[in-house]
Parts: sequence; structure tokens; C-alpha cells
Amino acid sequence: VDIPGATLGEETLAQTTGRARRGRVVRAAVAGATGYVGRELITLLARHPAARLTHLMSSGRDGKGSKSLEHSHPALRGKSHVPIQPLALEELGPATTDVVFFATPHETSHHAVPELLNRGLRVIDLSGAFRLKDAGAYSRWYGFEHHAGAALNEAVYGLTELNAEEIRAARLVSNPGCYATSVILALAPLLRAKWVNETVGIICDSKSGASGAGRGLSEKLHYVEVNENCRAYGLFTHRHVPEMLQALGLEEERFTFTPHLLPVNRGILSTIYVRLNEPREAAEVEGMFRDFYAAAPLVRVYEHGALPEIQAVAGTNYTDLGFALDAASERLIVVSALDNLGKGAAGQAIQNMNLMFGYAEETGLV
Ligand SMILES: NC(=O)c1ccc[n+]([C@@H]2O[C@H](COP(=O)([O-])OP(=O)(O)OC[C@H]3O[C@@H](n4cnc5c(N)ncnc54)[C@H](OP(=O)(O)O)[C@@H]3O)[C@@H](O)[C@H]2O)c1
Repeated sequence: VDIPGATLGEETLAQTTGRARRGRVVRAAVAGATGYVGRELITLLARHPAARLTHLMSSGRDGKGSKSLEHSHPALRGKSHVPIQPLALEELGPATTDVVFFATPHETSHHAVPELLNRGLRVIDLSGAFRLKDAGAYSRWYGFEHHAGAALNEAVYGLTELNAEEIRAARLVSNPGCYATSVILALAPLLRAKWVNETVGIICDSKSGASGAGRGLSEKLHYVEVNENCRAYGLFTHRHVPEMLQALGLEEERFTFTPHLLPVNRGILSTIYVRLNEPREAAEVEGMFRDFYAAAPLVRVYEHGALPEIQAVAGTNYTDLGFALDAASERLIVVSALDNLGKGAAGQAIQNMNLMFGYAEETGLV
């Protein structure tokens, strides 16, 4: 441990095993601490055997900054004594902090992240501000012009299972979207094996719990609008589409993604319809998924005949994958489930932090 005064880190590090014992305390700040993803990051960091919270920040609007943690998140009472303060980039630097998590709106991250990189910090951004390699795509999908080309160029897309080597060395990790994580993990093995008849097209039907929309007020998210309801939204326009196309190497006209809002707090279920390009047996498909994720501790592949569901992943950091095959017609349906705040956001961000600082990727997550 090379951090003076990191007593908590020293104590807890000594209790951990293997690689974690040889590492050092990771000093972590969270911007967006009052939000849903911020809450999940704080929860995971507070119990992580090798992390220490240094700063918690939010917009400071409506008196939200300068509040105690339990005021914003009653469930976190007693988990950290770090107060929530208004975002102040000048307070963040290598003397106090190793990594800053940004769980803020895209525009806030877009503005703030380059300055923190210049200050010598490593950043894990959970917004979409650094996910797309094409800066010109931001006006269409995100509604703002991208002006941080250098940071965008160096950002590594933080889909841990696909980009581990780049993530280890990255200064800026752009954490994937929640829907995108569920879909990319389901399709990447099939597409990389070249098993998919792409000309027929791929259809993804995804459903998310209401925490996916964040904590801000919106009429569409009132209890009465969400409860006992299920609605489609963002048809052909959802912001996660371009990062899925980018990560999977697909053409837009061959990929249809429709998200739905479910009356549950957390969780995403994606049902993905694919035509194979030659006959396969179910055992072959299961074996291919198992081989692809053999070294991935946070992806659970189900045996043929069993299907993932939201209750199995809510509150966890796993992605669960299952499938059904109609061998005669070469139609395959893959079902993918994760927690939008877990593997879909904070869990994957901590998984990436673990790689960046030399820990086993599942440290503090299982
Ligand atoms: N929710 C999910 O399932 C999910 C999954 C993956 C990725 N994400 C992404 O993660 C980010 C956070 O999402 P969320 O659901 O946690 O949103 P949220 O609940 O609305 O929280 C947003 C946070 O950002 C802060 N913030 C807003 N404007 C700010 C500013 N100008 N300066 C500093 N802080 C500011 C807010 O602080 P105040 O409370 O003080 O306004 C709050 O702490 C978003 O980019 C979202 O797209 C969300």
C-alpha cells in the first residue's frame, strides 16, 4: 500500500487473497453521486476490498451538493463519511485521487473529462459522451456537437469481456450502455464465429426497469404511468444503437433494436432473434457460448433449455445468457439478462477499474 493514511484500505487489503493482496488502494471519486448509478457505484466502492472513496460530487443544483450521503441515499447510511459536494474539478488531482467515475449526463462528462485527463487522472465515464468513435455521429444520436476529439480518440470502450487488454492500459474508459452490454454480450460470440446470416437481419427486443431512465423527474416516469404498464420507446432512434453497431460491426439497416419500459425497479431482458447461416445442433451453440466466455467470471451461460430472467440478475453484476434453437429452420433466439445498474453500469465500471489497477476483474463484485 503506497497511500499514506489509507488505513481502511490497508486493513481490508490484508484480508483479501491472491492478486488483491499485492495491489494498492485505489482512491476513487464519484461525480453524479446523487443519481441511481452514483448510488450503485458508492455501494460497490464502499465494500470493495481495495478501494477508498475520496470525493462524492453532484450538480449542486437545488441545494443537492453539500449534503450528507444518507440524505441522498438513506440505504447508504454509515457506509462512507465523505460528504456530497458540488462538482469542483479543481479539487480532483493525483495527490488525492487515482480514478474518477462520471455518472453524469452526457454533456457534463463531455465537458469535464478532458480536463481531468489533463490533470493526470484516470477516468471511467458511464455516460455516452465517449462511446462513439465517430465524433460526427453525436449530433444525430445525442443532440450535441462533440468538441473533445482527442479524448474521444483515446477512449477505450469498456465492454470488459471484449476489450480487457486495452482497458488495463487505458486512461479513459467509456463504460457501455446498459442495453448495449446485454445485446453485445449475446451477439459477439455468434458474430465473431461468423455463424449469423446477417442479410436476413437481427432483431433485438429489450425491456428495462425504470431506474434505467435515471432519477430526474419526468411525467412519463411517474408511478401511475409506469406501474401495470409496458411501453415501447425510442424506435429506430435509441442512443445505444450506434455503440452496438460499432462494437458488433453491423450495418444499421440489418439491425433493429426496440427498447421497452417495464414496471420493475431494475433489470434488463433482451430477446434477440437471429438466423444462422448453416445448420447447427443445440449442443454446438451452447458449447460455442461456453468456450467464448470460459474465462469470463461475470457471464453465466445457461444450459440449453434454461432461460435467463430478470429476477436471477437483479442486484448482481452478472450477465446471464441462454438460447433456444429451431434447428430445422436455423432460427436462434438468444435471451440475455442483466441488472442495468450492475453489469449495465456500476458493476462493469468497477470491473474495468479492477483491470486498470491490476486486480482480478471480479474483485468486490461477486
Ligand atoms: N440508469 C441506468 O441504468 C444507467 C445505465 C448505464 C449508464 N447510465 C448513464 O449514467 C449516467 C447517470 O445515470 P443515472 O441514471 O444515475 O442518472 P441520474 O439518476 O439522473 O443522476 C444524474 C447525476 O448527475 C448529476 N448531475 C447532473 N447534472 C450535473 C452537472 N451539470 N454537474 C455535475 N453533476 C451533474 C446529478 O446531480 P444532481 O442530483 O445534483 O442534479 C446526479 O448525481 C447517465 O449518463 C446515464 O446515461 C445510466
